Amino acid sequence: MAHTVKNVKPKGELSGFSPKQIDEHFDVLYKGYVNKLNEIEAKLGEADLSQANATYSQFRELKREEVFTTQAVRLHEAFFENIGGTGGKPTGAIADLIARDFGSYEKWEAEFRALGVAARGWVVLAFDWADRKLHNYLSDIHSDGVWDASVLLVMDVYEHSYFIDYGTARKAYIDAFFRNINWDVVNERVSRVQIAAQR
Ligand SMILES: [Fe+2]
Repeated sequence: MAHTVKNVKPKGELSGFSPKQIDEHFDVLYKGYVNKLNEIEAKLGEADLSQANATYSQFRELKREEVFTTQAVRLHEAFFENIGGTGGKPTGAIADLIARDFGSYEKWEAEFRALGVAARGWVVLAFDWADRKLHNYLSDIHSDGVWDASVLLVMDVYEHSYFIDYGTARKAYIDAFFRNINWDVVNERVSRVQIAAQR
């Protein structure tokens, strides 16, 4: 089934994000990934499996880009969905999990912000089912990631996510991200995978 653009574009003005920054990111880049994913899947339907080859084959290249583009779509959807809030400290289940697994909210925030400077693509707070704990994971490219972990909070740190508003001042963009986190969305994700019940 064809992938469609999800209705997760932040509504109204966000503190520290210009409409142009959001429009370019959502309407051009994110929608472009959705369109390309549909194009890849259509071509996969016609790929010649008998020509599969690990050095080069159309099938191999399509499958590589399927992973890259699927992750690009999913991470952008999670990112846009988890901004548009009022930031501040979280409450509810996610607050309890952060305190349990990072010691305190402040320790978690310090690590997440530092990863925002260190990463080339994404910073992801995730619940890893292998040890049933929260982790802040770094991803340099859409297709980097840890399997069997549930995404809870996503920050895009590709230059395209902030360069219109901040140029090279990435830390100022990270400040803006933190002012706009929607912790209600994060708590919905926690409850969706029933992480609290697994403790
Ligand atoms: Fe992005």
